[in-house]
Amino acid sequence: MNKNQLENEYNSYKQKGKTLDMSRGKPSPSQLDNLWRMLTEITKSEDCYSENGTDCRNYGCPDGIPEAKRLFADILEMKSDNIIVCGNSSLNLMYDTISMGYLFGVNGCTPWGRQEKIKFLCPVPGYDRHFAITKLFGFEHINIPMTEEGPDMDRVRQYAENDETVKGIWCVPKYSNPTGITFSDRVVREFASLKPAAKDFAVMWDNAYAVHGFTETPDKLLPVMAEAEKKGNEDLFYIFTSTSKITYSGGGISCIALSEKNKQVYLKLMGIRTIGYDKLNMLRHARFLSKHLEEVMEKHGRAVREKFELCYKYFEVLEREVEGFGFSRPNGGYFINVNVPAGKAKQVVSLAREAGLILTPAGATFPGGVDPEDRNIRIAPTYPTAGELEEALKLFSICVKLAVSR
Ligand SMILES: Cc1ncc(COP(=O)(O)O)c(C=O)c1O
Repeated sequence: MNKNQLENEYNSYKQKGKTLDMSRGKPSPSQLDNLWRMLTEITKSEDCYSENGTDCRNYGCPDGIPEAKRLFADILEMKSDNIIVCGNSSLNLMYDTISMGYLFGVNGCTPWGRQEKIKFLCPVPGYDRHFAITKLFGFEHINIPMTEEGPDMDRVRQYAENDETVKGIWCVPKYSNPTGITFSDRVVREFASLKPAAKDFAVMWDNAYAVHGFTETPDKLLPVMAEAEKKGNEDLFYIFTSTSKITYSGGGISCIALSEKNKQVYLKLMGIRTIGYDKLNMLRHARFLSKHLEEVMEKHGRAVREKFELCYKYFEVLEREVEGFGFSRPNGGYFINVNVPAGKAKQVVSLAREAGLILTPAGATFPGGVDPEDRNIRIAPTYPTAGELEEALKLFSICVKLAVSR
């Protein structure tokens, strides 16, 4: 297609006036339809009791019911004792953790909010909502490049072990958002033996995609807490996950996993903020997923993989035809990481938007929304139907070629 043909094709999409949103990693409605049986796990008063006798209709058991702790312990490959089960959003727990560090301090140190400068390490490209939290608290961000094995650990050590104002790092250790990379055993062990200069350093280990593989060769993540315990380093880790991409996004349950010492501190502060979370939802989730987790994830996996493969079909063509175009083929997760030729990402995203295709803003995968090379775009293909996705990919391909030709 020459430039005129591209412009004509593009304009015809614009005239159709359709809108399609591919900006966030959301399960499709048909994925959620598979889960209605969970809602009938509680249908009468007698169903409302936890295995330890707790009446889940009432206050009590602030750290969560035992069957829900066990569910997350299995998902995270950790001990139930480390886990506090909470409400519908793990991002909320990450915000709380940072906010507690800011107001009350980490590891008995002066609160971050009363220290002159706080820096946080941000593997890039990374998750925009992580960066938004530490930005809100005014922390300075330091970009750490992602390698095929996880964050560049030489850089992590260089900053964390030599600069006392560096207080933590954001991590998505499995099927990372957006690169799809899973941290190698070496990287996990190097995290477990990190010796930060700051006594109040926090590794924010967001294992949101712990059971979200969809190929025959799913990635394996070494459980970091067990490794850290071997080194006496367990207090460094704040581990999070939720059922947002297992059952209902925004209607599930979440957890934070901590060393015994950190758990006591966290529970004390949490107990002032809330009397406890929704135990009926914990009960529904624990009962349903203890029987059906594997089956549920297999169904999600098939649905997600189908959408990813459709993307690959179009991206392979772009890779052949556009120099500097590249994309990831992860074994799981919710995102495809696309790189367009340098200097073109913003243009591609704005061309797409003008023609009705909403993508994650270019630059969002970097702290402050600034991609220094303006080339990274996060593709979230799970929500649209296959038909809508195909339309979106045709338009996306035109936008990439048009941006490159201009
Ligand atoms: C890495 C990561 N963490 C957390 C979340 C949000 O989790 P929650 O719904 O439990 O707040 C997402 C959602 O896309 C995510 O990609």
